[in-house]
Amino acid sequence: MSERVPLIAGNWKMNLTPDEGRAWCDGFKARLATPPERVEIAVCPPFTALEAVVSSLVGYPAWVGSQTIHSQASGAHTGEISAEMVLATGAVGTILGHSERREAGETDEMVATRVRRALDAGLRVILCVGERLEQREAGETDAHVRAQVAAALARVDRGESQRIDIAYEPIWAIGTGRTATPEIAQETCAVVRDAASAHVDGGVIRVLYGGSVNDQNAAELLSQADIDGALVGGASLDVEKFAAIVEAA
Ligand code: 13P
Repeated sequence: MSERVPLIAGNWKMNLTPDEGRAWCDGFKARLATPPERVEIAVCPPFTALEAVVSSLVGYPAWVGSQTIHSQASGAHTGEISAEMVLATGAVGTILGHSERREAGETDEMVATRVRRALDAGLRVILCVGERLEQREAGETDAHVRAQVAAALARVDRGESQRIDIAYEPIWAIGTGRTATPEIAQETCAVVRDAASAHVDGGVIRVLYGGSVNDQNAAELLSQADIDGALVGGASLDVEKFAAIVEAA
């Protein structure tokens, strides 16, 4: 890893109520009272737990993000949440373009609009990209992630490089226990960095790996040159495992 400070981010997906979120924070703070200095920690709970988690982490060196935002600031968008609403909870970032949202209909264009909206509103962004198993087997991985990165960053300025992280999450590795090998993860994270370099500073932007990261495989994944952190799903719900991943970084 380079001089880029690694980021370990937990994506809780559709898990944990506000009370459960508070209990997670209390447990995590007890387990890792003094986090390692050169690691950044982030937690992305569901919208309903944002405020509880933000207030539970006051004074603790971790930031809170949502799992998406809508592209408009307000209006007739039933069931949606704006960047302003997320910011009002005290959260400072958001995940965008997660494959589970793309699966539900989010297009590259929608992701690009949301990235711009999040940055304009003052949120930092964890942008997700990644290929399906058929695409990897057909040798289409590089072209696919390059296209996703280019589309999402089309309206981003080089000066915003420090406000975006990109998570490479191969869809076949998400929630399957089938982690990409460190070699595969490194190779595609390098492709993501190269693709991002057309829009942002490739030396500054952090590229995270996501997909069945756990306390056992984190150290080897995080030791790769182009892997600057991890976006952790299932294992982030477990205080002990998430703390061990932070320590591995
Ligand atoms: P898992 O760690 O559960 O595979 O999920 C990865 C992910 O999708 C994080 O955004």
